[in-house]
Amino acid sequence: MTVTVGVVGTGSIGSDHVRRLSARVSGARVGAVFDVDTARADAVAAAAGARAHADALDVVDDPAVEAVVIVSPGDTHAALALACMTAGKPVLCEKPLATTGIDALTVLAAEVASGRRLVQVGFMRRFDAGYLRMKAALDSGAIGEALVLVLHCIHRNPAVPPAFTSDMALTDSVIHEIDAARWLLGEEIVGTTVVRTRRSPFAAGHLADPQLVLLVTGSGVVVEVEVFRNCRYGYDVRCEIVGATGTVSLEVPTTGAPTTGGVLGRAVPADWGERFGGAYHAELQQWSTACGPAPWPGRTPGTGTPPPPSPRPTSGR
Ligand code: NAI
Repeated sequence: MTVTVGVVGTGSIGSDHVRRLSARVSGARVGAVFDVDTARADAVAAAAGARAHADALDVVDDPAVEAVVIVSPGDTHAALALACMTAGKPVLCEKPLATTGIDALTVLAAEVASGRRLVQVGFMRRFDAGYLRMKAALDSGAIGEALVLVLHCIHRNPAVPPAFTSDMALTDSVIHEIDAARWLLGEEIVGTTVVRTRRSPFAAGHLADPQLVLLVTGSGVVVEVEVFRNCRYGYDVRCEIVGATGTVSLEVPTTGAPTTGGVLGRAVPADWGERFGGAYHAELQQWSTACGPAPWPGRTPGTGTPPPPSPRPTSGR
């Protein structure tokens, strides 16, 4: 059984997701795409054997499309996720789900009201081998019978486009640490503090970079995050969980850097695609498999038949 997926946004990670869904993920194909950059959408559609639509909502409403991946900029996500729910179609929405709390709560409320779990957010770290090993160690009690005290996290990118803002460092980057902390610890975050440090000379004038974020969980665990979007040297994600009697750290996948001359060689990944490629694949595979025969009540399996019409929400454009 093959699930036909529609993809909104064919930029860096959108085109990457289209390639994975078309060539590597089993049981999935890309049937339709949309991007405001029509030349890019046409090229991606041609390579995938998909149709390029003139509007994002045409992808959502395309009768051949059974499930949707949202990979356009973050401020378009909430309205598109609502449109997918209205169409009764499962959606993998890249982070962030929304860029404001109100919009995120609106999507959540709509999903709860629908009675169906249709929305998955692209938190691929839950599918990363290193994160999974860290969680297994934590759950085994190996670092102190699950009594966690502190998480130290680092999220560094080599550079960002000029339009990247200080708030996006939180909604686009630290959002991964927020999700990872909730998933690893199994509890909610109840307090947040953001501290701005001395600015990197490589940060654009409007950008606070780096920033430090302190999250506090319900049981009092402190999650300390350094987010640095212009570190220049590579894509560097780290995490150490400190327990009462030990610690466990995220393993960085080994690379081909030579160890020689008294130096232990380990190259830093260039970008998110290199570091988390395996996790994106596992995430898309599990999601598209779950979109297969009949997991969504009210939908006719495999036909893409939408539920009865309901009001069309505001477009994400
Ligand atoms: P990008 O800037 O490379 O691509 C965005 C694409 O969306 C562009 O092709 C642009 O023309 C298109 N676009 C702009 N407005 C649109 C609209 N209203 N409707 C449809 N398309 C529109 O950005 P990138 O890096 O591909 O990021 C896209 C999303 O994926 C963002 O939400 C980002 O946070 C997320 N992302 C997630 C990652 C992860 O690790 N899970 C990694 C990288 C990005």
